Amino acid sequence: MTVPGIAAEKRVAALAAADLVEDGMRVGLGTGTTVAELVPALGRRRPAITCVATSPATAELAVAQGLDVRPFSDIDRLDLAIDGADQVDPAGWLVKGGGGAHTRERIVAAAADRFVVIVSSDKPVDRLHAPVPLELLAFGLAATLHALPGTTRRDAPPTPDGGILADFHGDVADPARLAEWLDSVPGVVSHGLFPPSMVSTVLVARGSEVEVRQIA
Ligand code: 5RP
Repeated sequence: MTVPGIAAEKRVAALAAADLVEDGMRVGLGTGTTVAELVPALGRRRPAITCVATSPATAELAVAQGLDVRPFSDIDRLDLAIDGADQVDPAGWLVKGGGGAHTRERIVAAAADRFVVIVSSDKPVDRLHAPVPLELLAFGLAATLHALPGTTRRDAPPTPDGGILADFHGDVADPARLAEWLDSVPGVVSHGLFPPSMVSTVLVARGSEVEVRQIA
């Protein structure tokens, strides 16, 4: 359950991000409750933008708000991507994927000239901690889980791309090393550790104020 102050902060961060969207932009829309505040804000302004969505839920919401949502198959670059996060550390490392959409979120963020992260004040942490969400290939699932000690399959339906959601519960003290290891395990489609090099800006709402952290 989202506490009222946190829900309000998600709206504050989302409105600040909506101000960054300009006519003509190709915009990637993330997934989650913070992005669910962004989409209606864009819908009210109705900028002349083309959107791609990182989940069916976001796509449905964006279409309902009158936004032009395209499949992400023929668009090679985006001007801006906006998404939430589960954790943000002081260097700009993110943990994402609480909503299980991190594979598409990673592809969209990587395709964007600017990736802006919108979070409430409960998301910044001094050090990242478990769990780290994973998406695993169904083929060889038991073998992949065996290769990932401390990982449990999530009780969730397959992703829209047929992936199996899981959570890594081990040590996250060195995110770069952990990301490298997860990348090296066959069967890991993607993980929720996003490096600072992918992140342009983090907008942290604290009450009605927005702290702007420039990362990359
Ligand atoms: C979904 C995500 C979300 O951005 C993350 O879980 C934050 O969600 P919320 O905005 O609901 O707090 O990574 O896969």
